[in-house]
Amino acid sequence: MAKNNIITGIDIGSSNIRTLVAHQIRGEENLRIVGVGVVTSAGIRRGIIVDIEEAIKAINESVELAERMAGSAVNRAFVSIGGNEISLENSKGVVAVGRADGEVEENDINRVIAEAQAIALPMNKDILHIIPKKYRLDDQDNIKNPLGMRGVRLEVEALVVESSASHMKNLTKAFYQAGIEIEDIALEPLASAKSVLTKKQKELGVVLINIGGGTTSLAVFEEGEILHTAILPIGAGHITNDVAIGLRTSIEVAEKVKLEYGSALCRDINRKEEIDLSQFDSQEYGYVSRHHVAEIIEARLREILEMAQSELQKIGKAGLLPAGGVLAGGGAKLPFVSELAKDVLGLPIQVGFPQGFSGVLDKVDDPAFATAAGLLLWSQDHQGGSSISGNDAIFAPIIRTTGSAVGKVRKWVGKFLP
Ligand SMILES: Nc1ncnc2c1ncn2[C@@H]1O[C@H](COP(=O)(O)OP(=O)(O)O)[C@@H](O)[C@H]1O
Ligand SMILES: [Mg+2]
Repeated sequence: MAKNNIITGIDIGSSNIRTLVAHQIRGEENLRIVGVGVVTSAGIRRGIIVDIEEAIKAINESVELAERMAGSAVNRAFVSIGGNEISLENSKGVVAVGRADGEVEENDINRVIAEAQAIALPMNKDILHIIPKKYRLDDQDNIKNPLGMRGVRLEVEALVVESSASHMKNLTKAFYQAGIEIEDIALEPLASAKSVLTKKQKELGVVLINIGGGTTSLAVFEEGEILHTAILPIGAGHITNDVAIGLRTSIEVAEKVKLEYGSALCRDINRKEEIDLSQFDSQEYGYVSRHHVAEIIEARLREILEMAQSELQKIGKAGLLPAGGVLAGGGAKLPFVSELAKDVLGLPIQVGFPQGFSGVLDKVDDPAFATAAGLLLWSQDHQGGSSISGNDAIFAPIIRTTGSAVGKVRKWVGKFLP
């Protein structure tokens, strides 16, 4: 029997570092999750590594937990990147088709994407993703995949996602020192989208909103293409801070109050209902109104969702996405968050759970695992060959530009490490 392929995804969040180990088993449609590791983040603020040593320690702890459960060592992984310093640029490339008979080969596609990649980058930025949107071959426009077609002049329109160069460098360094080879780095919302959005939703038009601890990220799709992506510098951790200030309690107690009694909507909560603070900490005393807690949560969540709405307005899609919004991340677990999001965004809203897996599912059947699970699926589009579930075309051509995943790692390491 063929050896099982082991895939690892490591989600570097500002609240949690989540590691998932999965087996890709020949003949099985779903990836089988065999290892899960979750630890509280350290050395990471708003998706950015601020203390490499601390971050390495936390990454190692998370990986060790997953290794123990999986019973195998992790040497390489797909990794997510967050931070709010991303920027998007539309770019074009044009090349002459190489073969005399005009048949487009993979090499032509690689060349045209390399052309689109040749943009003037600011000093502090580096290209994270290049996402071909559509090709044009002579007069024929809107081609999704030109391979095997015939023509003379091949053009591509691509979306270039740029991230902070120092941030990418620190991430690469942390993994290098942790002894884990990076197979690919994926922008957090794009990884999340892989596990919680369906192909149909991406065709129709949908926004994914991942409410994490320090950031909220979003990705907008239409006609199967990525239209927009952004990382906003506010997350569910800010809700906790607000609750702590509002109730004059410690952050720890505020977090517990939020998790136990929090709600994204205050209107249905009886004003007389009270929460006894001493149940959380013997140092605390007194009662607080549950309605007031919900008011604090609602105010901050509204702000987060309004920021997401203005991103949709920027691209002219506010209220115009037929498949609506899908919420993920730990913040998506607040009761009534869908109702609030529906109200603010004017769209149908669902909470997204990772799809396309078997194995230890109970742990992973959680919107907070969207990114880690998405990284496992990301691998499928980057290993070529017979893919399993939901292999969408969006990222496929990028593999061709970067060669094998290992080649890409070398490129990264070579670029960033002394
Ligand atoms: N059941 C829950 N109800 C409300 N909020 C939750 C729940 N579980 C987690 N959270 C919040 O989600 C945030 C962490 O989300 P997560 O997606 O793990 O963040 P990150 O990816 O940034 O590390 C925290 O602010 C936490 O309080
Ligand atoms: Mg996250």
